[in-house]
Amino acid sequence: MPRQLFVTTALPYANGKPHIGHIMEYIQADVWVRFQRLLGNAAHFVCAEDAHGAPIMIAAEKAGKTPQQFIGEMQAARQQYLDGFHIGFDHWHTTESPENVELSQSIYRALRANELIEIRTIEQFYDPVKGMFLPDRYIKGTCPKCGAKDQYGDNCEVCGTTYAPTDLKDPYSVLTGARPELRTSEHYFFRLSDARCVDFLKGWTAGRNRHGEPHLQPEVYAKTQEWLGEGGRGLADWDISRDAPYFGIPIPDTADKFFYVWLDAPIGYLASLKSYFDSGKALARGEGRSYEEFIGSPEVEQVHFIGKDIVYFHTLFWPAMLHFSGRKVPDNVFVHGFITVSGEKMSKSRGTGIDPLRYLQLGMNPEWFRYYVAAKLNAHVEDIDFNPDDFIARVNSDLVGKYVNIASRAASFLVRQFDGRLAASADPSGAPAGSLAVALASADDIAAYFEGREYGKALREIMRIADFANEHFDKHKPWELAKDPAQRELLHAVCSDVMRCFRALTIYLSPVLPVTAERVARELFGLQRPFTWADLRSPLESIAPYKHLMTRVEAKQLDALFEPPAAVEEKTMPGGQPVGETVTIDDFARLDLRVAKIVNAEAIEGSDKLLKLTLDAGEGRHRTVFAGIKSAYRPEALVGKLTVMVANLAPRKMKFGVSEGMVLAASHADEKKHPGIFLLEPHAGAQPGMRVK
Ligand code: 2FM
Ligand code: ZN
Repeated sequence: MPRQLFVTTALPYANGKPHIGHIMEYIQADVWVRFQRLLGNAAHFVCAEDAHGAPIMIAAEKAGKTPQQFIGEMQAARQQYLDGFHIGFDHWHTTESPENVELSQSIYRALRANELIEIRTIEQFYDPVKGMFLPDRYIKGTCPKCGAKDQYGDNCEVCGTTYAPTDLKDPYSVLTGARPELRTSEHYFFRLSDARCVDFLKGWTAGRNRHGEPHLQPEVYAKTQEWLGEGGRGLADWDISRDAPYFGIPIPDTADKFFYVWLDAPIGYLASLKSYFDSGKALARGEGRSYEEFIGSPEVEQVHFIGKDIVYFHTLFWPAMLHFSGRKVPDNVFVHGFITVSGEKMSKSRGTGIDPLRYLQLGMNPEWFRYYVAAKLNAHVEDIDFNPDDFIARVNSDLVGKYVNIASRAASFLVRQFDGRLAASADPSGAPAGSLAVALASADDIAAYFEGREYGKALREIMRIADFANEHFDKHKPWELAKDPAQRELLHAVCSDVMRCFRALTIYLSPVLPVTAERVARELFGLQRPFTWADLRSPLESIAPYKHLMTRVEAKQLDALFEPPAAVEEKTMPGGQPVGETVTIDDFARLDLRVAKIVNAEAIEGSDKLLKLTLDAGEGRHRTVFAGIKSAYRPEALVGKLTVMVANLAPRKMKFGVSEGMVLAASHADEKKHPGIFLLEPHAGAQPGMRVK
């Protein structure tokens, strides 16, 4: 019976471009899925935007877009990365979708019916200017231990102490600079400390799937046991609610509570699968059942590929959510490490030194990268390193020097001397093992390596066979056999054997090199369908002339990949901030900048940042503008001075009143290290109301 697999990768947040770490994970999963299909198994491979949460809400607001617009643009931009690296997801959805609302709310209701939801009052920092509760990462302040300034709400980057945001000295909101207030609020908790959860998780984490394989890798299992602790005392209840304003899914039967993004994110796996089924794409893959029938059927295996940073969510929260809402639990959670570049750790926000889009734009072959990454991957939670010299060596020596070389050499004799026809497959040279025999002898090992995500081992074995084929070919010196009519049969046998070996190698490599394999199948062997594992032993009688398959990677391509984009480098300013995106003169002309006279300036009670300015821009009326310049100016020093105002800025409602414009001021990129705000002032003679252009 073919296996039925439901496979996912982690849903990426919808507020960042894919980085090389995402691409690595997608390649790991994509290779596995393609391998399963090669064997004849059915695999449904889906992903989605992880759309919710405060950072996305705030990023969208900053960009002047609705979160929906913002996510839509992210999703559209993602496709070129996926296509570019031949990542064959069957479906890409979003957690901001009706399917996800439905599923999240129904899972929540089931947990509540199971008495696993509890409401508690907690105290939390609130930004009175922004009018919202602040996630820890939006609170900064002075480290209570070492006194370092501007440390995040959860730990100090200087001395390494961890603490609660409420321990910070002089806390401030990263969003507005306001001093946060402690306020109470009711939060909803998933009672993971409940004995039923602990028992279930002890069992599941130690459990095995239907093939007798553990759900978790040994090192991941060990980590979960640390978290579960003796008797499960280690598991804390999980705060799953957030107060409005929040971009998320409403919690049923509440007025203004939303699910924390990490509750609805993994449910997005199911939402994407459902949308895939409902769209008819599953049917097109030959799966006739409905989503409910499919996910409800016991033989379906659910497999998640994730990174080592999100193990807690996927091995504790997620199986518990599924189990206690009466659903199928994951068969496997496959965890990988991070990718470093020349030993340098990547940052989640900056990514690494490799920009995947730049790689593609430089015209570098995506299969080189797939091969290199696969060659480094194993079944463990180990980081892998992208090293440019190693990359060049592997690609050129393995793919071009060993693999492709076999076909180009054997094909030329077969086509020129034998009209493309292959000899019968027995080896008349009497050699104990032709190269096809060597290739076939490794079939089970190679399959087991792919199955077990030991891609590096699989590729080493495949290259060992390629080495053998090249040596076997060279040993017979076909270029000399070709000169001797008496050796014609041997020449035919050797070239045919090596060509059959090449086909086997192509089948083995097809999960990693899908495009090359497809071309070989079609162009060289005239096959109008993808390879299957059974093709290892199917007859091969003739070939078409060989067409060039793959070029070598050149060092200068790697140089170009790592060169900082010239434009950005030249434009970097002493203030440390690169110059923004280029705009046209028309873009600039949309701003109406006017000389304005400051007729009054006063401090505002309750704000340590803002001054209230009254401006005259020659309009026959005065405007009120709130400016964040209190730290730099005494109000009375400003009265009577001229400055520059953005006159056509949409009025903004602020806590202290409506601001009807904006004044222009300069400051250092790192205002904390280099304080100072410098208001712009025109040269003498300028009059209020003059346009600045
Ligand atoms: O860590 C992350 O990037 C999350 N967006 C992963 C979510 S995976 C799943 F739960 F949706
Ligand atoms: Zn500190």
